[in-house]
Order: sequence, then C-alpha cells, then structure tokens
Amino acid sequence: MRKKIVAGNWKMNNTFDEAIDLAKAVNEQVGVDEKGLIIMAPPALYLKTLVDITKDNEGIEIASQNSYLKEKGAYTGEISPEMLASIGVKYAIIGHSERREYFNESDEVLKIKVTKALEAGLNPIFCCGEPLNVREADTHVDYVKKQLSNSIFDLSPEDFSKLVIAYEPIWAIGTGVTASSDQAQDMHKEIRAMIAKVYGAEMADNTTILYGGSCKPENAKELFSQADVDGGLIGGASLKADDFIAILRSY
Ligand code: PGA
Repeated sequence: MRKKIVAGNWKMNNTFDEAIDLAKAVNEQVGVDEKGLIIMAPPALYLKTLVDITKDNEGIEIASQNSYLKEKGAYTGEISPEMLASIGVKYAIIGHSERREYFNESDEVLKIKVTKALEAGLNPIFCCGEPLNVREADTHVDYVKKQLSNSIFDLSPEDFSKLVIAYEPIWAIGTGVTASSDQAQDMHKEIRAMIAKVYGAEMADNTTILYGGSCKPENAKELFSQADVDGGLIGGASLKADDFIAILRSY
C-alpha cells in the first residue's frame, strides 16, 4: 500500500517566531492517528528547530525545500544533503518549479541532486509539472515524461522506491487556479503508467504521487478522492495551521 502524504511547502515565508508558532500548532493537533504522513518543509534556517519541535511526533517528518548536489566543500551559501540528514531531516523537495525557473535548475542538475540526496539517506520529493503554454498546446504528458526520464528514470529500483513524486502544474501554483480533479487524476494516472513502464506495475502502485497547485481546504477532498492522487504538496494553505490540518483531514 502506498503512503498517503500531505506536505507543507512554506517557501520563503515566516519569521522565526511565526515558524515556531505554526510548527507547534500543527505538532499539537496532529499525529500518527491521521490517515497519512504529515511533512513540513520550512526555510532551511528553521529546519533544526522544527525537527526538535516534532521529534516525539511519529506522524510528522521534516523536509528541506532544496538540497545541494555536493557533499561538502567550497560552495558558499549551499547546504548539502549530508548536513540535512545530520540534523534529522528525512525528506528533501527537489525540482520545485520555482527552483527550476528562478535558479535555473535543469533536469541534469536535478538528476544529480536526487542521486546525492538518496546517497545521504534523504527521501526526495521530486516535483514535475508543465507551464500554461504547454498545457494549452496539449503536450503536457510528454513534457512531464521528459522531466521524469531525464532526472529519475535511471535510478535503481531500490533508489526509486524511496521517492515521492509531486505533480504541480505551474499554472496552478500560487495562482488560485486549481487543476480540476479530472485534470489531476488524468496526469497522475499517466505518471503512474510511465513508472510502470520503467519499473513495473508493483512499483507504480507503491509510488506516492502528490498533487500541488492551489490546493486548499475547499478543494482537497475532491482532489484526494481521485484514485491516483495520494495527497498534496501545499504552498500557501500550509502557512495557516487550521487550513493545513483541514487539508490533511480531507482523505
Ligand atoms: P500553492 O503552492 O499551494 O501556494 O499553489 C504549491 C507549491 O508550490 O508547492
């Protein structure tokens, strides 16, 4: 049975005090009795604090929003997957569309990042998704297929089994426009078929595929009820404890 997951991607939001308040509010209200795993991905500066706040809560894991492609050395400003693992971070979001767009992260770079994160013992949450013009041209399936084959389809089955996939159509991120549940389901089904082709039906069936893009309490139930949608990667709505908790209770 594949894992259900709701992950909150805080992006570059919250002061330290706000981060502590939010993490504590979530930590106090949710735990192992939820239907899925809960992940919070705060800015890197707050990771250790969140690991400490949630350390006795088996229902919550902490993720980084990024991780570098080298283990250590003269890379000013970067944080290695080994460093993340050493403070108790378990997941790393890799390939978010904002990293691809604003930091020029190519499929090739992301392939290395995924490999290095796995070597350090992290579970990558690998993001994919098409921009609006690609969706309008109706070539989104090919576009996402290329992202996956370029970055993650060369992994060994053992490594691939540690991945979580997040499908995030760029036109739906932070825009208030959500993919319809049919659009999400269609693409998730396609992604699962792509995985099946490379790694077999069992692997495909066991891979968690999250939807991301303006997911909120009002639409989470409908999205999560789709056969191939195993949860969400939540941006804006993960910044309010009540909204985030309402979403993770939408299964
Ligand atoms: P959003 O962001 O929920 O604010 O649209 C999702 C994401 O980028 O992970």
